[in-house]
Amino acid sequence: MESIKVFAPATVANVACGFDIFGFAVDNPGDEIILRKKATPGVEITKIEGDNGRLTRDAAKNTVGISMLAYLHRLNSDQGVSVELKKKMPLGSGLGSSAASSVAGVFAINELMGRPLSQRDLLPFAMEGERFASGTPHADNVAPCLLGGFVAIRSYTPLDVIKIDTPKDLFATIVHPQIEVNTRDARNILRKETSLKNTITQMGNVAGLIAGLMKSDYDLISRSLVDVIIEPVRAILIPGFDEVKGAALNAGALGCSISGAGPSMFALSRDRDTAKRVGEAMQRAFTGVQIESEIYVSSINQDGPVVLG
Ligand code: HSE
Repeated sequence: MESIKVFAPATVANVACGFDIFGFAVDNPGDEIILRKKATPGVEITKIEGDNGRLTRDAAKNTVGISMLAYLHRLNSDQGVSVELKKKMPLGSGLGSSAASSVAGVFAINELMGRPLSQRDLLPFAMEGERFASGTPHADNVAPCLLGGFVAIRSYTPLDVIKIDTPKDLFATIVHPQIEVNTRDARNILRKETSLKNTITQMGNVAGLIAGLMKSDYDLISRSLVDVIIEPVRAILIPGFDEVKGAALNAGALGCSISGAGPSMFALSRDRDTAKRVGEAMQRAFTGVQIESEIYVSSINQDGPVVLG
């Protein structure tokens, strides 16, 4: 194989109560990448589309290159590759844009080299991209992007990642307002400590969400999509947050919170029609505070990255 084209999906991290430990993949949007073997060693980014000129082509400073460089270093390989990256999702949106690029890169190069490592083994390399992008190698975007589905990170050291079954009819709505939030900033404003009372509430919701997903118990899912630790702090970064969340719940969503570090907001619903209605209601609420937005409706993507050609 001399070249490969790969798609890697957007992801919703945190999923309300699971800061840095929960995430799921969606069908769209996502990133595309074309990788070609080249005769000389090193990773060369030859073209980036869809970023409005904002991303560097320096492979050591772009998450798509960072994950591949970490992979090649670990394999002690002097294989050279050239990279074309098509950003098909907004940057700084809370949709796991940096993670999709990291995963696309490391997944594509592993395929191109004949798959010497398993898909799970690629996770630490993709996490290096996140370390660069946000200051912390959190896995709640890269793990669902790489493995597909809904993922829980039980432990970071050692890395212990669990895929959780989700009900077939569960649909996600993501509404992306035309504002930007920097993940590093959104992490820096968080309090470093939390009360015992809030910790107990959050642990109850984490347990409830996992059980609700595995048992297809929509009422339990709904009761558990509550974040008493992170959301109250970050909500101030999103104009109209209360109105948008209220609109989602009124339209029939099981729950609604911030997607990753924001500013996108996500909701879960028990069928596609409700998920669409919820998206329209959330968009109207953003319009009410003079913010334009885009709506994405998707099932939970079970595939993760795929080879397009
Ligand atoms: N868990 C991370 C955060 C996700 O909320 O900061 C960032 O995309």
